[in-house]
Amino acid sequence: MTNTRSLHTIPTVGIDAVSIFVPHHYFSIEELAHIRNVDAEKFTVGLGCSKMAILGPTEDPVTMAAGAARGLIDRTGIDPREVGMLIVGTESAVDESKPIAVYVHEMLGLSPRCRVMDLKNACYAGTAALRAAMAWAASPAAAGRKALVITTDVAYYDLASPGEPTQGAAAVALLVTANPQLLVIDTQAEAVYTREVMDFWRPTYRNSALVDGHFSLECYLESLRACYQMHKEMTGLSLADFRHVVFHTPFPKMAHKAHHRLFELEGGRLALGMSEEDSFHWKVEPTLGAARELGNVYAASLFAALISLLEDGKLQAGQQIALFSYGSGSSSEFFTGRFGPAIAAWNGNTGFSDQLTRRRRISYEEYLFYRAAYEQRNRDGYFVEDQPTEESPYLFLGIKNHRRQYAFLPPGRAADASTGVLGEP
Ligand code: HMG
Repeated sequence: MTNTRSLHTIPTVGIDAVSIFVPHHYFSIEELAHIRNVDAEKFTVGLGCSKMAILGPTEDPVTMAAGAARGLIDRTGIDPREVGMLIVGTESAVDESKPIAVYVHEMLGLSPRCRVMDLKNACYAGTAALRAAMAWAASPAAAGRKALVITTDVAYYDLASPGEPTQGAAAVALLVTANPQLLVIDTQAEAVYTREVMDFWRPTYRNSALVDGHFSLECYLESLRACYQMHKEMTGLSLADFRHVVFHTPFPKMAHKAHHRLFELEGGRLALGMSEEDSFHWKVEPTLGAARELGNVYAASLFAALISLLEDGKLQAGQQIALFSYGSGSSSEFFTGRFGPAIAAWNGNTGFSDQLTRRRRISYEEYLFYRAAYEQRNRDGYFVEDQPTEESPYLFLGIKNHRRQYAFLPPGRAADASTGVLGEP
């Protein structure tokens, strides 16, 4: 009898295109240090932070997610009806029941024959979503259709808490397909590590996260060690084999600590034939732009680091990179990928830098005002009147009769055409 499984050759799978959404405002970390009466170098050198992206009153995790995906659809020119799966990885849910994905599905004009869901697992949610999307894209069920993975998050801590300088917000969209042109991800080795810890969490009754900061660093590094060694045992690959290592980067110094851990595990300078500084400079430094400019973006952090690497613009087809995803609580994974033939078109050309130049720096008073607005945003009765534009095609207007209200311009719709509205009773 013929084994039908053997007839189905497993295609390569991974990321075919990426896009980032950057909020329109930021607050300076130096100014925060000044106001908190802290030596600025503690935040800028000790943590490596520079700016934190702040949501405006008409932005929320849904509008960021739709904005990131729209950038991807506009750039690739894909027909939204080709998307057969949409997974949003997030820890910034706007509802205990309704997923962000279903709002985004409507805003993008995706086909009704599209499976949608949100996936929660702290900062690991994006990688979990990527893995689920890859399994589907490689399966016969996908039948050539594409999956959209969107990571969207707001990192939000209490005022004057140690986590405050690491706050941020952004969304990243990934087009996940068979035979991807951008990054082929290895599906043979599975180096995952799960351990229940209380290092960082956000109870459903709180807007801001609770964190045992120094313990969370230990948990991250221990998970990295476990995943890296597991991966090495399975593949024989080690730090020296990777052109770049992309880490989940809650703040840039964390990537230094992570690289240091791997460098030590590999026996240091003598074994690796280069100094730790050089290794960090070549392998990790080009991944840090987003963490410096945006802050922690939780589930989007790993993929924002990947976009920083693309934006740095020196990559070649065939180069192998490693990625480490960590989500508090905790789940983690170490995996690898190789750049595909389209890499030249992405080098220095992700749209990330352009979005940074369009941002406005806000004052401390505005920072406090936007925080207050963020907290209001999950209460019934908050409402603003506004119209979407090409610059801001997705607007969150507030909550009326317990329904979230959005106004938007679907992809391909001119600014003067009628806008879509979501949430009206
Ligand atoms: P802290 O305790 O206030 O800071 O908060 P510190 O005292 O540890 O100092 C930080 C660094 O600045 C240290 O460097 C100091 O030496 C240095 P290190 O020794 O670590 O290399 N420093 C200075 N440097 C220059 N000039 C100075 C100066 N003073 C001190 N004058 C902490 C730090 C990370 C704990 C805090 O920001 C925090 O709680 N952050 C949130 C938690 C976090 O980001 N954890 C990361 C790992 S867990 C993770 O990544 C998951 C997460 O993304 C959530 C999810 O999964 O959903 C958070």
